[in-house]
Amino acid sequence: MLRFKSILSRIVVLHVVAVVITSVFMSLALSWLLNYATNNIHNEAMQEQAVSVGEHLTAQPDGHLELDLPQDLLGLYSQAYGRYSYAVIDDHGRVLFSSLRDNAALFPADARSSDVEFLQQRLGDATVSGASVRKTIGGQSVWIQAGEDLANRDVLIDDIVADFYRDVGWITLPILMVLLIADIAIFRRALRPLREASEIASDIGPTRTDVRLPTDEIPREVRPLVSAINLALDRLEQGFRIQRDFTADAAHELRTPLSILRTRLDLLEDKKMRQALQRDVEGMAHIISQLLDIAELDAFVVDPLEKADLRSVTAEVAEFVAPLALAQGKDVALLGTAEPVWVKGNPEMLGRAIRNLSENAINHTAPGTTVEFIVDQNGTVSVQDQGPGVAEEERNLIFQRFWRRDRRKAGSTGLGLSIVQRIAELHSAVVTVENRDPSGARFSLKFVPLAL
Ligand SMILES: Nc1ncnc2c1ncn2[C@@H]1O[C@H](COP(=O)(O)OP(=O)(O)OP(=O)(O)O)[C@@H](O)[C@H]1O
Ligand SMILES: [Mg+2]
Repeated sequence: MLRFKSILSRIVVLHVVAVVITSVFMSLALSWLLNYATNNIHNEAMQEQAVSVGEHLTAQPDGHLELDLPQDLLGLYSQAYGRYSYAVIDDHGRVLFSSLRDNAALFPADARSSDVEFLQQRLGDATVSGASVRKTIGGQSVWIQAGEDLANRDVLIDDIVADFYRDVGWITLPILMVLLIADIAIFRRALRPLREASEIASDIGPTRTDVRLPTDEIPREVRPLVSAINLALDRLEQGFRIQRDFTADAAHELRTPLSILRTRLDLLEDKKMRQALQRDVEGMAHIISQLLDIAELDAFVVDPLEKADLRSVTAEVAEFVAPLALAQGKDVALLGTAEPVWVKGNPEMLGRAIRNLSENAINHTAPGTTVEFIVDQNGTVSVQDQGPGVAEEERNLIFQRFWRRDRRKAGSTGLGLSIVQRIAELHSAVVTVENRDPSGARFSLKFVPLAL
């Protein structure tokens, strides 16, 4: 069986079937009504003719009846005209007067029961249809019959009935088609909230679990489905939250034993051993702090009204990481505009992103070289180093969580750039990476500048 997946196409198909059936039935009904109406007109006309013939009947003093039709009526009932005929019949069924050649009655003699009757009768080749009207004259009842030969019936009326299908009946089809188009428009309108809800739903993902579908405009029939989806999203969001909280809680829980470890290490006599272990502990502390940042970012929502001065945020980061660079025999420089550069975003998060980029740059730049911070008036901050750069094929990998080129390197978790990317996403910013000539990498973050 042919199946229509779309509600609209189902409705169109069923509607077309309904339209065809209705238009056939409507034409039949209308043509029957038309027939009925023309018959009524005919019957009334025949009754009137019988009455008007009756008006010319007069009773003579000796009791017998005379019919004295005026000239115009005589013409109407003449054999030559052939269309109308009359007959007058008495109580005993005898024909008193008749316009027919053989002085016959139009209708059977026994059709004399009521005051008015409408009858039809075959007379030779013709079918005569008409009325029989009772009249009491001079103390006796007579029946006056008037009829019309249907073969000669008014051509106009016949044409109307015959052409009804072609001319009038089919008008129902276009009318119903207009109705169908109106229905489609109505239906599309009714489905619009569903389309809008689908668009909203397409935004839902691991980082956007707070989205819910609007139910106000949704048609009542589909509302249970939409509500059920929203409830499912509630449960999913809760599941996600439990996972996020677990990461954050686990990282938090590790902090206490780590600081106990630190204090214990301080008491260690063996200096060499102490320093080596302290480095390991700092490495672990770094991993934990990166994990905490990730967990926090998963649940972070940027206030759309918040703004940050990119230039001062960058300056702070440069100041913060300078000692680290100097300790490794490297330098930092702050270049670009000296004016404030206002962008949309959370200053704390912007700082974290730039700090991660600068830590990478310091780690990779060769001793004796400089890591440069460049702030541009258009809302871009770049961090560039003179290290090995990032190979083309690694440019997507480096942003993945836990990816690092050298897994053995202590204190490297592979989370830094995924943190940067997440912060960029939250701020509708774009991270790009390119290599410098002759060597080095340049990471840039382009934020949305605040219209002043
Ligand atoms: N400026 C750079 N020059 C060359 N390679 C880089 C640079 N920045 C990052 N990378 C490469 O990308 C990898 C991922 O960087 P990312 O910052 O995500 O992690 P990480 O620095 O290893 O660890 P974490 O930042 O969490 O301490 C690094 O391990 C390194 O191999
Ligand atoms: Mg890093």
